[in-house]
Amino acid sequence: MEQIPVYPDVLELDKAELHLHLDGSLRLETMLEIAEIENIEIPGNNTLALKKQCVYENEENFTLTKFLNYFYFTLKFLQTKYALTRTAYELLEDLSHENVKLAEIRFAPQLHRINGLTLGEVVDAVLEGINKGMNDFDIKSGLILCILRGLKLKLAHEVVDIADEYRDRGVIGVDLAGDESKFPLEMYRHPLLIAGQKGLNITIHAGETGPVEEIKTAVFDLNAKRIGHGIAIVKDPPLIQVLAEKKVTLEICPTSNIQTCVAKSYAHHPVNLIYQKGGLVTINSDNRLISDTNISKELSKMIYFFHWTIDDIKKVIQNAFDASFIK
Ligand code: ADE
Ligand code: ZN
Repeated sequence: MEQIPVYPDVLELDKAELHLHLDGSLRLETMLEIAEIENIEIPGNNTLALKKQCVYENEENFTLTKFLNYFYFTLKFLQTKYALTRTAYELLEDLSHENVKLAEIRFAPQLHRINGLTLGEVVDAVLEGINKGMNDFDIKSGLILCILRGLKLKLAHEVVDIADEYRDRGVIGVDLAGDESKFPLEMYRHPLLIAGQKGLNITIHAGETGPVEEIKTAVFDLNAKRIGHGIAIVKDPPLIQVLAEKKVTLEICPTSNIQTCVAKSYAHHPVNLIYQKGGLVTINSDNRLISDTNISKELSKMIYFFHWTIDDIKKVIQNAFDASFIK
């Protein structure tokens, strides 16, 4: 990936990040230590060898399906309370170092039960890390629980139930994540409708690899207040305005889209067009480790490739503060 400068002005600004997956945002050094403590076999015994397993490397014709395979590896390191608490805490620490003042962290709790943790134990462990992090660093945070495309409907309903149970204890909403190219949103209509009936905040990965119709279903049928990625909206300019009027915000993750080959390059990424047409754009990192990025790098790329001014940067940051599910 092209190395783009991080602008000091961007680094200094107070920022909000709405779209960040815990399981894609670990520290390599921590993974090594967890491997040692928990006897997890890893290739080599150094961060360089580890990096090869879980940091995207330039590859032509890559896809979202291939990209999501990285998580099979990182998830091995997130199967104990210790690991979940530690990594959530460290993520807030890392974010605070780049002046992120508000961070919504998301993950799919069902994927952390290999060692027999209950869903409640998994969520409690992550919340413990988040609460400690909020205590120690100047940052507010909340947890979004992901329903995962490809998992059984019963598990999706369990996520909605546990999100409801924890709604006053740090869980701020639900998401639908995973492979949009294989599992359309329609399959998860029922649990998401129930989430809406329960009054949970909903964001949905839609229009990432899929068509604009997925975005329409998410917003008009399922009442999603935010859309993860949503870049397919560029094919339907009037919809950009309709969503902006409804205050539906787009969580755009530029580098992630280039790595999954849904955008050809930064210069070709639709984010600028969507922003210029009045879309409520926010800029996010999606996965700090896997995509080797962070929000300061992502925002800096908007300046570098699209000549955004610092006022443009402030605008999209404000969009993120305004659209946060954290009260
Ligand atoms: N989980 C982590 N990254 C993701 C992405 N880009 N799309 C869907 N699910 C994800
Ligand atoms: Zn995502």
